[in-house]
Amino acid sequence: MPIRKAIIPAAGLGTRMLPATKSVPKEMLPLADRPTIQYIVEEAVASGIQHITMITSRVKRALEDYFDDAPELRAVLERKGDTAALEMLDHTSRMAQFSFTRQHEPRGLGHAVLVARDLMGAEPFGVLLGDDLVDHPERPCLRQLMDVHERHGGCVIAVMRVPREQISRYGIAAIDSYGDLDARTHRVQGLVEKPSPEQAPSNLAVIGRYVLTPSIFDVLEQTPPGRGGEIQLTDALHTLGQSEPVYAYEFEGTRYDTGDPVGLITTSLAYALQRPDLAPGIRAYLRTLRLD
Ligand code: UTP
Repeated sequence: MPIRKAIIPAAGLGTRMLPATKSVPKEMLPLADRPTIQYIVEEAVASGIQHITMITSRVKRALEDYFDDAPELRAVLERKGDTAALEMLDHTSRMAQFSFTRQHEPRGLGHAVLVARDLMGAEPFGVLLGDDLVDHPERPCLRQLMDVHERHGGCVIAVMRVPREQISRYGIAAIDSYGDLDARTHRVQGLVEKPSPEQAPSNLAVIGRYVLTPSIFDVLEQTPPGRGGEIQLTDALHTLGQSEPVYAYEFEGTRYDTGDPVGLITTSLAYALQRPDLAPGIRAYLRTLRLD
Protein backbone atom coordinates (compact mmCIF):
# COMPACT_ATOMS: atom_id res chain seq x y z
CA MET A 1 0.00 0.00 0.00
CA PRO A 2 1.54 3.40 -0.96
CA ILE A 3 2.29 5.68 1.96
CA ARG A 4 0.31 8.94 1.87
CA LYS A 5 0.24 10.05 5.48
CA ALA A 6 2.80 11.16 8.05
CA ILE A 7 2.87 12.19 11.69
CA ILE A 8 5.07 14.99 13.00
CA PRO A 9 5.15 14.72 16.81
CA ALA A 10 5.72 18.23 18.14
CA ALA A 11 4.23 18.11 21.63
CA GLY A 12 7.51 17.79 23.56
CA LEU A 13 8.46 20.49 26.05
CA GLY A 14 11.72 21.43 24.36
CA THR A 15 13.45 21.97 27.71
CA ARG A 16 16.91 22.05 26.13
CA MET A 17 15.91 25.23 24.31
CA LEU A 18 14.52 27.10 27.32
CA PRO A 19 13.84 29.96 27.84
CA ALA A 20 12.87 30.42 24.15
CA THR A 21 10.53 27.42 24.29
CA LYS A 22 8.57 28.76 27.23
CA SER A 23 6.27 30.43 24.70
CA VAL A 24 7.69 29.57 21.24
CA PRO A 25 7.47 26.00 19.90
CA LYS A 26 10.99 24.70 19.28
CA GLU A 27 9.79 23.69 15.80
CA MET A 28 9.24 27.40 15.04
CA LEU A 29 12.83 28.39 15.88
CA PRO A 30 14.43 29.49 12.62
CA LEU A 31 17.19 27.90 10.58
CA ALA A 32 18.32 30.90 8.54
CA ASP A 33 14.97 32.59 7.83
CA ARG A 34 12.63 29.55 7.93
CA PRO A 35 11.25 27.71 10.92
CA THR A 36 12.63 24.21 11.39
CA ILE A 37 9.18 22.73 10.80
CA GLN A 38 9.17 24.10 7.23
CA TYR A 39 12.16 21.90 6.31
CA ILE A 40 10.53 18.86 7.92
CA VAL A 41 7.25 19.36 6.06
CA GLU A 42 9.14 19.95 2.80
CA GLU A 43 10.96 16.64 3.29
CA ALA A 44 7.64 14.84 3.85
CA VAL A 45 6.06 16.43 0.77
CA ALA A 46 9.12 15.74 -1.42
CA SER A 47 8.86 12.11 -0.27
CA GLY A 48 5.28 11.88 -1.60
CA ILE A 49 3.31 12.51 1.61
CA GLN A 50 -0.06 14.21 1.06
CA HIS A 51 -1.58 14.35 4.54
CA ILE A 52 0.41 15.53 7.55
CA THR A 53 -0.80 15.20 11.14
CA MET A 54 1.03 17.31 13.71
CA ILE A 55 0.83 16.36 17.36
CA THR A 56 0.79 19.59 19.33
CA SER A 57 0.13 20.91 22.82
CA ARG A 58 -0.87 24.13 24.57
CA VAL A 59 2.13 26.30 23.69
CA LYS A 60 2.27 25.07 20.09
CA ARG A 61 -0.56 27.08 18.55
CA ALA A 62 1.92 28.95 16.34
CA LEU A 63 2.43 25.74 14.32
CA GLU A 64 -1.22 25.67 13.32
CA ASP A 65 -1.20 29.36 12.39
CA TYR A 66 1.99 28.95 10.36
CA PHE A 67 0.37 26.43 7.99
CA ASP A 68 -2.93 28.34 7.74
CA ASP A 69 -3.82 31.11 5.27
CA ALA A 70 -2.94 34.64 6.41
CA PRO A 71 -5.49 36.97 4.73
CA GLU A 72 -4.26 40.21 6.36
CA LEU A 73 -0.66 39.55 5.38
CA ARG A 74 -1.77 38.51 1.91
CA ALA A 75 -3.70 41.81 1.44
CA VAL A 76 -0.63 43.86 2.43
CA LEU A 77 1.70 41.90 0.14
CA GLU A 78 -0.78 42.21 -2.75
CA ARG A 79 -0.91 45.99 -2.27
CA LYS A 80 2.89 46.08 -2.34
CA GLY A 81 3.04 43.77 -5.36
CA ASP A 82 5.46 41.46 -3.54
CA THR A 83 4.84 38.35 -5.66
CA ALA A 84 7.83 36.40 -4.28
CA ALA A 85 6.56 36.69 -0.69
CA LEU A 86 2.99 35.89 -1.84
CA GLU A 87 4.17 32.72 -3.58
CA MET A 88 6.04 31.64 -0.45
CA LEU A 89 2.95 32.27 1.67
CA ASP A 90 0.74 30.19 -0.64
CA HIS A 91 3.32 27.42 -0.93
CA THR A 92 3.46 27.04 2.87
CA SER A 93 -0.27 26.64 3.43
CA ARG A 94 -0.96 24.52 0.32
CA MET A 95 1.96 22.08 0.45
CA ALA A 96 -0.13 19.31 1.96
CA GLN A 97 -3.36 18.66 3.81
CA PHE A 98 -2.71 19.40 7.49
CA SER A 99 -4.42 18.06 10.62
CA PHE A 100 -3.52 19.04 14.16
CA THR A 101 -4.30 16.97 17.18
CA ARG A 102 -3.30 17.47 20.77
CA GLN A 103 -1.37 15.35 23.19
CA HIS A 104 -2.71 16.65 26.49
CA GLU A 105 0.36 15.67 28.49
CA PRO A 106 3.88 14.95 27.20
CA ARG A 107 3.81 11.23 28.00
CA GLY A 108 6.52 10.32 25.50
CA LEU A 109 7.08 9.89 21.78
CA GLY A 110 5.27 6.54 21.69
CA HIS A 111 2.22 8.13 23.27
CA ALA A 112 2.39 11.07 20.83
CA VAL A 113 2.24 8.63 17.89
CA LEU A 114 -0.67 6.77 19.52
CA VAL A 115 -2.67 10.01 19.70
CA ALA A 116 -2.86 9.99 15.86
CA ARG A 117 -4.26 6.45 15.66
CA ASP A 118 -7.68 7.34 14.22
CA LEU A 119 -6.18 9.75 11.69
CA MET A 120 -3.80 7.10 10.32
CA GLY A 121 -6.49 4.39 9.99
CA ALA A 122 -5.27 1.06 8.62
CA GLU A 123 -2.47 2.44 6.43
CA PRO A 124 1.30 2.43 6.89
CA PHE A 125 2.59 5.94 7.57
CA GLY A 126 5.73 8.00 8.05
CA VAL A 127 6.94 9.69 11.26
CA LEU A 128 9.29 12.67 11.18
CA LEU A 129 10.67 14.22 14.37
CA GLY A 130 10.87 17.98 14.29
CA ASP A 131 14.38 18.30 15.72
CA ASP A 132 16.14 15.96 13.30
CA LEU A 133 17.00 17.24 9.84
CA VAL A 134 18.52 15.10 7.14
CA ASP A 135 20.00 16.86 4.15
CA HIS A 136 20.28 14.96 0.89
CA PRO A 137 20.31 16.75 -2.46
CA GLU A 138 18.12 14.21 -4.28
CA ARG A 139 16.50 11.57 -2.07
CA PRO A 140 14.76 12.83 1.07
CA CYS A 141 15.37 10.54 4.05
CA LEU A 142 11.71 9.58 4.48
CA ARG A 143 11.54 8.65 0.77
CA GLN A 144 14.53 6.34 1.29
CA LEU A 145 12.62 4.54 4.09
CA MET A 146 9.44 4.39 2.00
CA ASP A 147 11.42 2.69 -0.79
CA VAL A 148 12.64 0.04 1.69
CA HIS A 149 9.05 -0.48 2.89
CA GLU A 150 7.88 -0.88 -0.71
CA ARG A 151 10.56 -3.54 -1.30
CA HIS A 152 10.31 -5.50 1.96
CA GLY A 153 7.11 -4.38 3.80
CA GLY A 154 7.23 -4.02 7.61
CA CYS A 155 8.38 -1.08 9.71
CA VAL A 156 11.55 0.76 8.70
CA ILE A 157 13.67 2.91 10.99
CA ALA A 158 16.47 5.25 9.94
CA VAL A 159 19.78 4.50 11.65
CA MET A 160 23.31 5.84 11.56
CA ARG A 161 26.58 4.56 13.00
CA VAL A 162 27.70 6.63 15.98
CA PRO A 163 30.97 6.73 17.94
CA ARG A 164 31.03 4.79 21.22
CA GLU A 165 30.87 7.92 23.39
CA GLN A 166 27.55 8.97 21.78
CA ILE A 167 25.77 5.61 22.12
CA SER A 168 23.98 6.48 25.37
CA ARG A 169 22.14 9.42 23.71
CA TYR A 170 20.19 7.22 21.27
CA GLY A 171 17.93 4.22 20.84
CA ILE A 172 20.26 1.47 19.56
CA ALA A 173 19.31 -1.38 17.19
CA ALA A 174 20.38 -5.01 17.55
CA ILE A 175 20.56 -6.56 14.09
CA ASP A 176 20.93 -10.07 12.61
CA SER A 177 24.04 -9.35 10.60
CA TYR A 178 25.33 -6.47 8.52
CA GLY A 179 24.16 -6.47 4.92
CA ASP A 180 21.78 -9.43 5.22
CA LEU A 181 19.28 -7.73 2.88
CA ASP A 182 21.54 -5.21 1.15
CA ALA A 183 24.51 -3.11 2.25
CA ARG A 184 22.33 -0.54 4.05
CA THR A 185 19.28 -2.57 5.17
CA HIS A 186 19.36 -4.88 8.21
CA ARG A 187 16.66 -6.92 9.93
CA VAL A 188 16.20 -5.67 13.51
CA GLN A 189 16.33 -8.20 16.35
CA GLY A 190 15.62 -5.71 19.11
CA LEU A 191 15.99 -2.10 20.24
CA VAL A 192 17.34 -0.61 23.45
CA GLU A 193 16.65 2.98 24.51
CA LYS A 194 19.83 4.88 25.51
CA PRO A 195 22.03 1.97 26.66
CA SER A 196 25.51 2.36 28.11
CA PRO A 197 28.25 1.59 25.52
CA GLU A 198 28.99 -1.67 27.39
CA GLN A 199 25.38 -2.84 27.11
CA ALA A 200 24.72 -1.59 23.56
CA PRO A 201 24.10 -4.36 21.01
CA SER A 202 25.64 -2.29 18.16
CA ASN A 203 26.53 1.30 17.27
CA LEU A 204 23.48 1.73 15.01
CA ALA A 205 21.59 4.71 16.44
CA VAL A 206 17.93 5.38 15.67
CA ILE A 207 17.24 8.89 14.37
CA GLY A 208 13.93 10.69 13.90
CA ARG A 209 12.55 9.09 10.72
CA TYR A 210 10.33 6.01 10.64
CA VAL A 211 7.89 4.16 8.44
CA LEU A 212 5.42 2.33 10.68
CA THR A 213 2.67 -0.16 9.99
CA PRO A 214 -0.68 0.25 11.78
CA SER A 215 0.11 -2.78 13.99
CA ILE A 216 2.28 -0.43 16.04
CA PHE A 217 -0.87 1.08 17.61
CA ASP A 218 -2.00 -2.11 19.38
CA VAL A 219 1.52 -2.52 20.73
CA LEU A 220 1.69 1.11 21.88
CA GLU A 221 -1.62 0.67 23.75
CA GLN A 222 0.10 -2.06 25.79
CA THR A 223 3.51 -0.42 26.21
CA PRO A 224 4.17 0.68 29.80
CA PRO A 225 6.18 3.82 30.55
CA GLY A 226 9.87 3.05 30.08
CA ARG A 227 13.02 5.16 30.34
CA GLY A 228 12.31 8.59 31.86
CA GLY A 229 8.76 7.47 32.77
CA GLU A 230 7.74 8.03 29.11
CA ILE A 231 5.99 5.68 26.67
CA GLN A 232 8.86 5.01 24.31
CA LEU A 233 8.37 4.31 20.59
CA THR A 234 11.62 2.31 20.75
CA ASP A 235 10.09 -0.09 23.31
CA ALA A 236 6.99 -0.62 21.15
CA LEU A 237 9.14 -1.27 18.06
CA HIS A 238 11.21 -3.74 20.04
CA THR A 239 8.02 -5.66 20.92
CA LEU A 240 6.58 -5.45 17.41
CA GLY A 241 9.89 -6.73 16.02
CA GLN A 242 9.28 -10.07 17.75
CA SER A 243 6.21 -10.75 15.56
CA GLU A 244 6.64 -8.60 12.41
CA PRO A 245 9.65 -7.54 10.38
CA VAL A 246 11.30 -4.30 11.45
CA TYR A 247 14.18 -3.06 9.28
CA ALA A 248 16.97 -0.65 10.10
CA TYR A 249 18.10 1.39 7.11
CA GLU A 250 21.41 3.25 7.12
CA PHE A 251 20.13 6.37 5.38
CA GLU A 252 22.12 8.48 2.92
CA GLY A 253 22.57 12.16 3.76
CA THR A 254 23.82 14.47 6.49
CA ARG A 255 21.86 14.47 9.73
CA TYR A 256 21.56 17.56 11.95
CA ASP A 257 20.17 17.62 15.49
CA THR A 258 18.51 20.98 16.15
CA GLY A 259 17.22 20.13 19.63
CA ASP A 260 19.83 22.08 21.62
CA PRO A 261 21.44 25.51 21.17
CA VAL A 262 24.74 24.31 19.60
CA GLY A 263 22.84 22.02 17.22
CA LEU A 264 20.40 24.75 16.23
CA ILE A 265 23.14 27.31 15.54
CA THR A 266 25.37 24.93 13.56
CA THR A 267 22.42 23.64 11.50
CA SER A 268 21.32 27.19 10.81
CA LEU A 269 24.83 28.01 9.56
CA ALA A 270 25.00 24.88 7.40
CA TYR A 271 21.64 25.64 5.74
CA ALA A 272 22.37 29.36 5.34
CA LEU A 273 25.70 28.55 3.65
CA GLN A 274 23.75 26.59 1.00
CA ARG A 275 21.65 29.66 0.15
CA PRO A 276 23.07 31.85 -2.64
CA ASP A 277 21.30 34.93 -1.19
CA LEU A 278 22.67 34.45 2.35
CA ALA A 279 26.00 32.65 1.94
CA PRO A 280 28.19 35.62 0.84
CA GLY A 281 27.30 37.71 3.92
CA ILE A 282 27.80 34.80 6.30
CA ARG A 283 31.09 33.74 4.72
CA ALA A 284 32.34 37.33 4.98
CA TYR A 285 31.49 37.37 8.69
CA LEU A 286 33.04 33.94 9.36
CA ARG A 287 36.29 35.08 7.72
CA THR A 288 36.58 37.87 10.28
CA LEU A 289 36.51 35.41 13.20
CA ARG A 290 39.79 34.60 14.83
CA LEU A 291 39.08 31.20 16.35
CA ASP A 292 41.42 29.89 19.09
P1 UTP B 1 12.60 15.05 22.50
O1 UTP B 1 12.75 14.46 23.83
O2 UTP B 1 13.79 15.20 21.63
O3 UTP B 1 11.93 16.48 22.53
O4 UTP B 1 11.46 14.27 21.75
P2 UTP B 1 11.48 17.41 23.70
O5 UTP B 1 10.88 16.63 24.81
O6 UTP B 1 10.62 18.45 23.05
O7 UTP B 1 12.85 18.12 24.07
P3 UTP B 1 13.70 18.28 25.40
O8 UTP B 1 14.47 17.00 25.55
O9 UTP B 1 12.77 18.60 26.54
O10 UTP B 1 14.60 19.45 25.07
C1 UTP B 1 11.55 13.89 20.38
C2 UTP B 1 10.33 14.34 19.60
O11 UTP B 1 9.14 13.78 20.15
C3 UTP B 1 8.19 14.78 20.43
C4 UTP B 1 9.00 16.07 20.57
O12 UTP B 1 8.17 17.18 20.25
C5 UTP B 1 10.13 15.85 19.59
O13 UTP B 1 9.76 16.20 18.26
N1 UTP B 1 7.48 14.42 21.67
C6 UTP B 1 8.18 13.98 22.76
C7 UTP B 1 6.10 14.52 21.72
O14 UTP B 1 5.44 14.93 20.73
N2 UTP B 1 5.47 14.19 22.87
C8 UTP B 1 6.14 13.75 23.97
O15 UTP B 1 5.49 13.43 24.99
C9 UTP B 1 7.53 13.64 23.90
